[in-house]
Amino acid sequence: MSDLIYLDNSATTFPKPEVVYDFMSDFYRKHGVNPGRSGFDAAIETEEIVHSTRKMLADLFNGDDPNRLTFSYNASDSLNMIIQGLAERGDHIITTFLEHNSVLRPLHHLQINGVAEITHIPFDENGYVNPDDFKKEMKSNTKMVVVNHSSNVIGTIQPLAEIGRICKEKGVIFVVDASQSAGAIHIDMKAMGIDVVVFTGHKCLMGPTGIGGSYVMENVPVKYTRFGGTGVRSAVKTHLEEFPYRLECGTLNIVGVAGLNAGVSWVNEQGMENLHKKEMALWTKLRDAFHQIEGVITYCANNNKDQNPVLCFNVKGFEAGDVGTMLDVDYNIATRTGLHCAPKVHEGIGTFDIHGTVRMSVGPFNTEDHINQAIAAVKEIASIRN
Ligand SMILES: Cc1ncc(COP(=O)(O)O)c(C=O)c1O
Repeated sequence: MSDLIYLDNSATTFPKPEVVYDFMSDFYRKHGVNPGRSGFDAAIETEEIVHSTRKMLADLFNGDDPNRLTFSYNASDSLNMIIQGLAERGDHIITTFLEHNSVLRPLHHLQINGVAEITHIPFDENGYVNPDDFKKEMKSNTKMVVVNHSSNVIGTIQPLAEIGRICKEKGVIFVVDASQSAGAIHIDMKAMGIDVVVFTGHKCLMGPTGIGGSYVMENVPVKYTRFGGTGVRSAVKTHLEEFPYRLECGTLNIVGVAGLNAGVSWVNEQGMENLHKKEMALWTKLRDAFHQIEGVITYCANNNKDQNPVLCFNVKGFEAGDVGTMLDVDYNIATRTGLHCAPKVHEGIGTFDIHGTVRMSVGPFNTEDHINQAIAAVKEIASIRN
């Protein structure tokens, strides 16, 4: 069997850079103690890594205060904390058809519990939302707008700065799900008018699973929804208001933080733009080849600009799941099929009722040879029925 061709980098990037594995192992052996609780050397050094990782990520998003960069398990965890910590009874919230279930579901639960009314903005035939639609949908009780920066299904990158400007004009809180873009696409919270950015560590930031978080700008009234140990001011009966404690409780995933530190350092060394350019060149080759194969249908893959290297397709005459199985079993190519935790994207591209699409997503360790093999495999599969 040939080596695995991994084209499921939107699910999680794999493999990670060697420095990430090495640093995690070394760090946990030498500094695997509880940070922020004790005064011995190893605890202080661990706290230093935690703080420097907060700073590295705050800088990445152009946030001034590293303490406002809080850690959680992943993007879903932080999106729950942010959405539930901001929503109040009677609110109206605007989001999009591009969202992942980690946004759709917390919002849906607010709706069915009678807390908030939710409006979903559709995207156009190329996969982009129109900022004017947000303006049209805003009401006097609109509390927040939640937008997925880059779709995990079709890879399109949304016009955050324009949406941010509208939110600022209307005094509405702007929350961005940067799960697929942090570490790949430049995000400047100040220039783009973003109030909260949520990230996950295991995708383009090249860290491990089990670590994610958010950066919350000053004056964003997010309440804590969890209570517990913070390691400081233990006599206080309530949870602490100040950041980072407001959105963190209990012992941090320090080996995850260390891995994220090494991952972000690696991305910074390589240069985000360089990585993106290389991956987009491979994506373009794949997309252009698929456009030439009879019976292969791609979705929204019309641009090379404002696009991440994610390609969704179907092969006429086959269920997406069957194509994924053939790619896996016959060609050793890892993809993801189905609705990709983003059912409304599939409503938008018309693939909801046919059980979704096959998704190939390119990462930093893919090569031209991987793409050539993927093209040859899909060509063979398409030739069976066409
Ligand atoms: C756009 C988007 N948002 C949120 C998430 C959730 O990330 P996590 O599973 O790390 O919580 C994902 C994961 O695929 C995603 O693609």
